[in-house]
Amino acid sequence: MIVQQLLSLKKKLKLRAMDLHTPYFDKNDVNYLEKSIRSTFVSTQAGYYIDKFRSKLADITGSKYVILLNSGSSGIYLGLRTLNVKEKDEVFLPTLNYIASANAVKSLNAIPHFIDSDIKNFGVDIKKLKSYLKKNFKFHKRKTINIKSGNVVSCLIVTHVFGMSCDMIELTKLCRNYNIKLIEDASEALGSKYNKKHLGTYGDIGILSFNGNKIITSGAGGAFMTNNYDMFKKADHLSQNAKKFHKWKYEYDDLGYNIKMPNLNAALGFAQIKRIKKYIINKKKLFNIYLEIFLNNKSIEVVKPDSKLSWNCWLVTILLKSNSIKIRDKIISQLNNYKIGARPVWQLNHKIRIYKNCPKMDLSNAEHLEKNIITLPSSAHFLMGDKKK
Ligand SMILES: Cc1ncc(COP(=O)(O)O)c(C=O)c1O
Repeated sequence: MIVQQLLSLKKKLKLRAMDLHTPYFDKNDVNYLEKSIRSTFVSTQAGYYIDKFRSKLADITGSKYVILLNSGSSGIYLGLRTLNVKEKDEVFLPTLNYIASANAVKSLNAIPHFIDSDIKNFGVDIKKLKSYLKKNFKFHKRKTINIKSGNVVSCLIVTHVFGMSCDMIELTKLCRNYNIKLIEDASEALGSKYNKKHLGTYGDIGILSFNGNKIITSGAGGAFMTNNYDMFKKADHLSQNAKKFHKWKYEYDDLGYNIKMPNLNAALGFAQIKRIKKYIINKKKLFNIYLEIFLNNKSIEVVKPDSKLSWNCWLVTILLKSNSIKIRDKIISQLNNYKIGARPVWQLNHKIRIYKNCPKMDLSNAEHLEKNIITLPSSAHFLMGDKKK
């Protein structure tokens, strides 16, 4: 039934294919890219569009400091370095997650500690985390220590899956009480606000991605956001190879990276972000269409946002009731044969070979969600008159 319903939708929208999430471009994108090339400022050090894109992002998110980067993945790594997460520190992160966070933690020789997801909004299950903390950790000299391993939990990374969010007010409070730093992976959440505050601005640090499949794209790219001046200065320094400021000398004082966004990418990002409101309007319309077509389909549930969330509708998701990966994959495979790019959620991180021995809590919500999540094609341009895709 799901397959038939989506096929009729594809026909109704007169689309040859419905990819999961593809970008939309117009003349302005080309125009800005051309201007960037003509200016000769195409790289990372300087350029008109770097400042333009950065201040537009600061405007939209309300974040005091924004650093443009070459990807969201770099941003997560930079966030951990900025917070001084080090060898043997434990970092809480959901197992239902994009792989970048666990990889960033591991590459610092810190330890991913997998936590469970909220069954409704796919964020952190805060209630479960609270009782896990009470039972298995002690708070000593303002540090949260894992009783079993003796390691300090220095940071928690929450991912705003598909642009949605758990109760960020509660989560911020919990992290503050346990003196655990908070990074928000808001890669998928540009344009989403929880309780009128933009996602990625609740924690110490927030990360955005502008990869080709995100709500706006800069080709590849990301952003680091914080309201803390010292963190901003440190992150900015590390993201430019930790080069000391000097007009002409090359001197360095830390382990740094070359991960800033080039002006060329910022030109595209700036052209795109001017259309974000239009994208969200169209994506909301698409979400409502999905709600309507599945209204009487009792075998699934369309995932709806929390009432406090103003959602960017990045990816519309349905939950099957079958609890079977086999059934999930069969449906997804049929849809893809019809050029309807539905997808499952990521492989749970704790099941990946290199993370199998990492500490974890009971992960039954994530296990349940893994079996039942299907994400649906959600590009804004399906409703923007571009029938080529
Ligand atoms: C939740 C999440 N985190 C991190 C990333 C990494 O972003 P990027 O592809 O820009 O490195 C992505 C997307 O690709 C993502 O969806």
